[in-house]
Parts: sequence; structure tokens; C-alpha cells
Amino acid sequence: MVNQENVTWWKTRGAVLAAIAVSAIGSASVTALLTNITEKKTEQRNQYVRTVDVGEDDTDPEKWGKNWPAQYDGYRRTAIKTATRFGGHAGSEALPDEKIDRDPWLRRMFLGYAFSIDYRDRRGHAYMLHDQEATQRLTKPQSGSCLHCHASVMPLYRSLGGGDAVKGFEQTFKFSYQELNKQLHDSGHAHPVSCVDCHDSKTMALRVTRPGFLKGIAALAASDAPVPAIPSIAEYRKGSKDKPYDPNERASRNEMRSFVCGQCHVEYYCSTKMPLTFPWGKGVKVEQIEAFWNETKFPDGSPFGDYVHKETGASILKAQHPEFELWTEGVHAQAGVSCADCHMPYQREGASKISDHWVRSPLLNVNRACQSCHRTDESELRRRVDTIQQRNHDLMQRGGAAITALMDAIVAAKSRGVTQELLRPALELQRKAQWRLDFVAAENSMGFHAPQEAARILGEAADYARQGQLAAVLSGAIPSGAPSATPGAAPSATPAK
Ligand code: HEC
Ligand code: HEC
Ligand code: HEC
Ligand code: HEC
Ligand code: HEC
Repeated sequence: MVNQENVTWWKTRGAVLAAIAVSAIGSASVTALLTNITEKKTEQRNQYVRTVDVGEDDTDPEKWGKNWPAQYDGYRRTAIKTATRFGGHAGSEALPDEKIDRDPWLRRMFLGYAFSIDYRDRRGHAYMLHDQEATQRLTKPQSGSCLHCHASVMPLYRSLGGGDAVKGFEQTFKFSYQELNKQLHDSGHAHPVSCVDCHDSKTMALRVTRPGFLKGIAALAASDAPVPAIPSIAEYRKGSKDKPYDPNERASRNEMRSFVCGQCHVEYYCSTKMPLTFPWGKGVKVEQIEAFWNETKFPDGSPFGDYVHKETGASILKAQHPEFELWTEGVHAQAGVSCADCHMPYQREGASKISDHWVRSPLLNVNRACQSCHRTDESELRRRVDTIQQRNHDLMQRGGAAITALMDAIVAAKSRGVTQELLRPALELQRKAQWRLDFVAAENSMGFHAPQEAARILGEAADYARQGQLAAVLSGAIPSGAPSATPGAAPSATPAK
């Protein structure tokens, strides 16, 4: 279904983009070619003609908008409410819908953690700081590290670190969210992700700024986990490796078109116990990240876990939006298709082509987001996405039923007096099952970014959950020395409450 010419074109586009695009269509009339070359020149000129100077401390996008009005206009549209079947957000303008009301098994999985209080649909970039400040999760103590991905925070990092952003960043986990948020507002940098977070203010080249990403990707490159979607890591590994992998030096432009998003759309750990961590030291696949967390210790020496489940007592790993990680496992990433290809496709703006800075669901824009490569009907493309997402959704609901049955079985065993020690195998299986189910549930593409990988993970989740249920039921059959089982208190597979 893919137009190979166009894929190659997409990968090799650069200075010769316009000319090759024309020849790919197969009718490179001289006039068309000339028009396109002129366009390309205008495009480049447009990028560098500046009516105002912008620098590294200019976090207000409005100022950049004077130089690049079309990109700024797109950026501002991220405030528009959008919804697709599974994407964007349902709910009011005031706040998106609660995911934990839509899927009650999610709320139950999170009992004992702030996500059981408030966990909503995501929405456009314009809201990121507002929605973080508004969440009821802040009724529990949260760390200053939260701002890493919700604000234009680099100048604050530099000022805390005496000019060194990484040093500044390393201190921020100790601050309460409220303290650091106040400093952000006082410093005048209380903006959502801004131009300066993805662009070098002098050259406008893409670059990554976030210390969490810089450290995480360096650790990934230092490991030997295969990452076929990121060729520059394989290149780096062939060399002397005497310096850590630095994406701003080594990544291709195409890789940067995904790395800028990987600064935030990733799994992470964030609290006042240790600095913000991207867990990629053993690879980015679900079991590699799990192994990384299982080997992690908190500074006080205790084993790593996000929370203890309120009903069962299991130590749980919470997954956060692993878009970047899941994307790496899919055919698109491995064919060199970047986040920006689908989420910021080129659009015509007068005489030039620009990247659509209205970052949103590609399903609102199939024509430019997909049909640039797939010469398939729009309705057929939509049908394929829908099939993938529906299957993923259905498998996930089965996972939800399985995890509920596991929790019910543990609760029932406990009420029969089975000890925590005897329940250990079931509790460990809860951790494994929940980590996998949450990994796919927290990922925001409803399986699209890597359909087979998502299905593999959900298959494992359901299997571990049912194994855990069985372990809990059997542990109840073994006399534990505690009060004897009440007749009729057999575990049920129906959701509690
Ligand atoms: C081949 C195209 C493609 C690529 C590449 C891609 N995505 Fe997506 N993405 C999609 C589709 C399709 C959806 C589902 C949208 C929907 O359900 O409305 C989606 C959904 C999302 C969502 C949720 C959107 C919403 O409206 O709720 C986020 C966030 C996201 N992707 C981020 C990323 C990031 C980050 C990357 C790169 C690491 C990436 N995507 C790469 C096509 C792509
Ligand atoms: C500084 C962190 C950060 C960066 C960088 C970032 N995002 Fe986001 N993104 C967020 C946050 C936070 C939200 C959710 C905002 C909310 O719900 O208030 C979000 C939301 C989204 C959504 C959902 C939009 C909607 O209308 O529902 C998409 C799609 C998305 N991002 C894609 C991307 C892509 C693609 C990139 C790279 C080009 C990117 N993001 C870069 C933090 C970031
Ligand atoms: C590594 C980057 C990163 C960090 C650190 C981070 N977030 Fe987010 N956050 C995101 C992204 C990306 C989204 C959008 C995707 C989604 O909603 O799943 C988001 C969405 C949200 C949302 C809107 C959806 C929801 O969950 O209700 C809230 C609220 C939020 N984050 C609060 C926080 C708080 C509080 C912290 C600190 C504990 C935090 N974030 C730390 C990247 C981050
Ligand atoms: C989340 C990251 C991100 C943010 C924030 C962002 N951009 Fe971009 N921008 C991109 C990507 C990706 C491209 C494509 C660059 C490429 O392929 O080399 C791009 C391209 C551009 C270009 C080159 C021409 C084009 O459109 O392709 C300009 C100019 C630009 N952006 C201006 C801005 C301005 C002004 C802002 C703030 C209002 C901004 N950008 C915010 C990611 C971002
Ligand atoms: C930059 C080019 C490009 C863009 C943009 C793009 N694709 Fe693809 N797509 C590919 C390539 C390359 C493949 C892999 C084809 C192969 O190996 O057979 C692919 C494969 C697919 C597949 C098969 C997936 C699978 O797991 O086997 C689907 C479905 C698909 N694309 C849908 C979409 C949709 C929907 C969009 C827009 C949201 C999109 N693509 C955007 C290039 C692209």
C-alpha cells in the first residue's frame, strides 16, 4: 500500500526536496522544476529573515511568531478542542474527561496512588501547564521535576545551576511542585512547550534541550540493546564510545524529528525521592524497562516501586505515556517515518511549504499526514487505523477483566487469612501483568504506533494476570495457619464495586 518512490523521497528530502518530489510524480517539466526551486529558495529565505531577534531566554512564543507567523499560527491552534474516536479529548473546555471513570479497572489498578484520584484525557500543547496546575493529583506531594515536560523550563534550570542547565535540573526533584512552579512564574517563563525547546534560537535547527532525554538516550546508546529505529546509535557503538552519545551532535535530521517529541512522550519516574529518570539503560522495550526498574534502588537502598497497591499490597510499577518507546517497535519507525511526518506534516503556506505546528491527531488530517506516502483512499486508510485500534481496545478490555479477577482473587485469599508471604507469587504476577497492561493503556495511540508489539504486550498481560489469579486461588487452598476460610468466599471474576 506504500508508494515506495514517495518513501524514499521522504527519507532523502533535504535541499533537493522540491525537485525530487516533482520527478517522483514523473512529469518534471522544466517550468514546474523552476517554480519549485524558486519556492525552496523563498522557503529558506523566509526561515532566516527576522524582524525581531530571538535568543535562548525567549520562552514567549509570541515573540518568535513575529519572525515565523505561519508556524506560530499553527502552534496557537493547539488550543482548539479536537476529538477522534480514541484520540484528542472528550469532555468540556474546562477539563477533559476522566479516563478512570470510562475504564473503572484503571482506577482500581491505581488504588493507593494519585492516578486513582484524577487521570484525564490528554489535549493540545497549549494546555499542558494549565492542566498540570489544575490536576487533583497535586493534592498529594509532587516534585518540581514535573515541570520538565510541561513548561518552557530551560532558563529556570540554567539559573538554578549557575548557567549549567543539567546541574540545575539535578536539583529540581527536591523542590515541591508548588515551590518550583512559583519560581517559574516569578521568572516570567511560565509558558507551555515553546519554540526554543525544539529549535536553536540562532540557526532554527532542531535540537533537544531536556536533560531527562539527554541522559536517557545516552544510557540507551551505552547499552547493547538493539534499536533499529535509531541508526545513529548503531553508528555510535561502532566508534570508541569515549564520550557519551550526544543526540545534538550525532542524530540525523530525520531522527531529530522524533527526538524532539521523545523529550516528553516517554515513560519516566518523577518524585522527590530521586532525579527524574528515563529508564532506557537496558533498552526501550517493555520487558527491558521492567528489568531496569527491577534493578533500580532508591537512594535509601530500598527496592524501586511506584506505589503499594491499596487492596492487595503488591509493589507496582506505573507506566507513563510511552509513545516514543512503542513507536520504536513499529514498522513506521523502522522504515524511518518520524513523529513529525504524521503529527506535523508539511502544508502549503502561500508560496512555500511549512511544517504544520498544530500538533494533533493525524486522523484529523489524513490527507497530509498519511496520503503523502500511502496512495490509498482516505476511507480505506481510516478503516485500517480503526481496525488496529478496535482490536487493541478489545484486547485491552480483556486485560482489564483479567487484572480485576486477579485483584479479586488476592482480596478473597487475604480475607480467608492467607498471608502476604504465601501470596507473594500472585503479588509479583500482579506487578508484571499491570505493568504491561498499563504500558499499552497509558500509550496514547490505541495501539497504532506498533500494533503487533502492543498485541504481544497485551497477550502477556492477560496471561500473567490469569496466572496470578490461579496462584491466589491455589494459595487459598493451602492451609496457612491463619483463620480458616469462610465457606462461600470463593474468588469471583466479576469486578468489585
Ligand atoms: C505513521 C504515523 C505516526 C507516527 C510516525 C507517529 N504517530 Fe502518533 N499517532 C498516529 C495515529 C494514527 C494516532 C491515533 C490518533 C487518534 O486515535 O486520533 C496517534 C496518536 C498519538 C498521540 C495521541 C493523540 C491524540 O490526539 O490523542 C500522541 C500523543 C502521539 N501519537 C505521539 C507520537 C509521538 C511522540 C511519535 C513519535 C515518537 C508518534 N506519535 C509517531 C500516527 C503516528
Ligand atoms: C515539553 C514536553 C513536550 C514535547 C517536547 C512534546 N509534547 Fe506533546 N504533549 C505534551 C503534554 C504535556 C501533552 C498533554 C497536554 C494536556 O493534556 O494538557 C501533550 C499532548 C500531545 C498530543 C495530544 C494533542 C491533542 O489534541 O489531544 C499530541 C498528538 C502530541 N502531544 C504530540 C507531540 C509530538 C508529535 C511532539 C514532537 C513534535 C510533541 N508532542 C512534543 C508534552 C510534550
Ligand atoms: C517526561 C515528561 C513528563 C513528566 C516528567 C511529567 N509529565 Fe505530565 N504529561 C506528559 C505527557 C507527554 C502528557 C500527555 C500524554 C498523556 O496525557 O498521557 C502528560 C499529561 C499530563 C496531564 C494530563 C492528563 C492526565 O494525566 O490527567 C497531567 C494532569 C499531568 N501530565 C501532570 C503531571 C504531573 C503532576 C507530573 C509530575 C508528577 C507530570 N505530569 C510529569 C509528560 C510528562
Ligand atoms: C515540539 C517541538 C517543536 C516546537 C515547540 C516548535 N517547533 Fe518548529 N519545527 C519542529 C519540527 C519537528 C520541524 C521540522 C524541522 C525539520 O524537519 O528539519 C519544525 C520546523 C520549523 C521551521 C522550519 C520551516 C518548517 O515549517 O518546516 C520553523 C521556521 C519553525 N519550526 C518555527 C517554529 C516556531 C516559530 C515555533 C514556536 C511558535 C516552533 N517552531 C515550535 C518542531 C517544533
Ligand atoms: C513518510 C511515509 C509514511 C507516512 C507519512 C505514513 N506511512 Fe504508513 N507506512 C509507511 C511505510 C514505509 C510502511 C511499511 C510498509 C512495509 O514495510 O510494507 C507503512 C505501513 C503502514 C501500515 C501497515 C502497518 C503494519 O503494522 O503492518 C499502515 C496501516 C499504515 N502504514 C498506515 C498509515 C497511516 C494511517 C498514516 C497516517 C497517520 C501513515 N501510515 C503515514 C510509510 C508512511
